[in-house]
Amino acid sequence: MAYTNLAEFVAHLEQRGHLRRIPFEVNPELEITAFVDRVSKGPLEHNVALLFERVTGAQFPVVINLFGHPQRMAWALGVERLDDLTDKLTALLDMRLPQGLGDTMARAGQLLQALRAVGWKPSVVKKAPVQEVVHTGDAVDLTMLPILKCWPEDGGRFITLPTVITRDPVTGARNVGMYRLQVHDRRTLGVHWQLHKGGAEHARTAKEVGAQRIPVAVSLGGDPAVIWCGAAPLPPGIDEFLLAGWLRGKPVELVTCITQPLEVPAHAEFVIEGYVEPGELRPEGPFGDHTGHYTPIEPYPVLHVTAITHRAQALYPATVVGLPPMEDYWMGKATERLFLPLIRLFMSEVVDIAMPPEGVFHNLVLVSIRKRYPGHARKVINGLWGLGLMALTRCIIVFDADVDVQDTARAMFYALSNADWARDVIIQEGPTDALDHASYRPAFGGKIGIDATRKWPEEGYTRPWPKPVAMTPEVQARVEALWRQLGG
Ligand SMILES: Cc1cc2nc3c(=O)[nH]c(=O)nc-3n(C[C@H](O)[C@H](O)[C@H](O)COP(=O)(O)O)c2cc1C
Repeated sequence: MAYTNLAEFVAHLEQRGHLRRIPFEVNPELEITAFVDRVSKGPLEHNVALLFERVTGAQFPVVINLFGHPQRMAWALGVERLDDLTDKLTALLDMRLPQGLGDTMARAGQLLQALRAVGWKPSVVKKAPVQEVVHTGDAVDLTMLPILKCWPEDGGRFITLPTVITRDPVTGARNVGMYRLQVHDRRTLGVHWQLHKGGAEHARTAKEVGAQRIPVAVSLGGDPAVIWCGAAPLPPGIDEFLLAGWLRGKPVELVTCITQPLEVPAHAEFVIEGYVEPGELRPEGPFGDHTGHYTPIEPYPVLHVTAITHRAQALYPATVVGLPPMEDYWMGKATERLFLPLIRLFMSEVVDIAMPPEGVFHNLVLVSIRKRYPGHARKVINGLWGLGLMALTRCIIVFDADVDVQDTARAMFYALSNADWARDVIIQEGPTDALDHASYRPAFGGKIGIDATRKWPEEGYTRPWPKPVAMTPEVQARVEALWRQLGG
């Protein structure tokens, strides 16, 4: 199902009991976070999206925790279950890409054409709801937005669920990223695009080619697939709006900005237009981040706002990150499910992949593989360390195909019992996530790869590998039947 805008998605959630309206006046400083944290840490069946109707000092309501449940995340991307994403993309790749043992790199390269070919390219419209109200010049004032201060020691207020749009200064290719923005004052924001991300690469390119300014647009709201796609780690050159169009089964409609040479989602709630001057940096943070820790104050680019446009009746979308689990875990889960077929393009031996919440994405990846040759797990570990943002993973553990990596406790049982710590470990140094506080240098540090597969004689394991303890199916069936007779 394709939602046209955020209000339609919110109505869908409300009809299905997945949204709670908060009628009390609530402060965007800290109080909204405390509500969100309460529903995020409780049982999943009580995890609802929250619509704050009266926000202190603000004319717009705030909606939050839209994606904080697997069912809501699935609906947002047009499916019933998150696993459907894996099946849907696998079907597209099977249909559109050459089959057989051909060159996987060439097949991956054709993914873009595959998405283009099915006609989900964004279209540009002339009139857009997001431009119903336009503020430019002196009328630009970020304090009109109900921007949250999430945690007590945050350095200020932060826009937390943005869609940040830039173009490569040389190729013109669009990048869409979800990067938080700190309010410096009424007309300037700090842009937290980390060094490995698309926006930062555009800024570096702009500096290299001597560009004066990088036009930047930030949209808030719109179709939920549009909101989510900014967080999808697509390779450079693949337009996230193409992905959103494919997910929603309808091209994303864009409109040209009023003051910048960029296009933005026509059905967004708000758009902030502006520019970044290459090389201009200002301290950003601290910010209570998804690592469960505050990120320190660091220099980040400054976005000079030239216009704010919005719907007449706009709804401000936000998220809160912090100690897991929070909403972003489910946003990442959608990425994990959707990217599994893409990982298999490069490594067809991969059965499943999981990023448990305890690992906050970059700290832990569990992978099950169909092991075919000695050292196969090591090949997969090194392969993942060379694949896009997977390069930043601090710990990769590889299991045999029969281990369910979605069951973290069971996977840990096999990791702890199968690995020999002198033989089955790779310690490596390389790039780490910009948020990694453990690495001994910023964004550079140690990683560990663990081979938790059953070891073969060819790998130097000469004793017979022990059999797992399990009941016979006959006895199992008889006891099940007897148990049912007991009524349970
Ligand atoms: C809620 C949320 C907040 C995020 N905040 C940031 C951020 O402030 N800076 C950043 O570099 N990445 C942030 N990310 C991760 C990026 O959105 C993600 O890495 C994405 O792939 C970036 O897009 P890009 O690959 O086009 O740069 C955030 C993700 C989520 C889900």
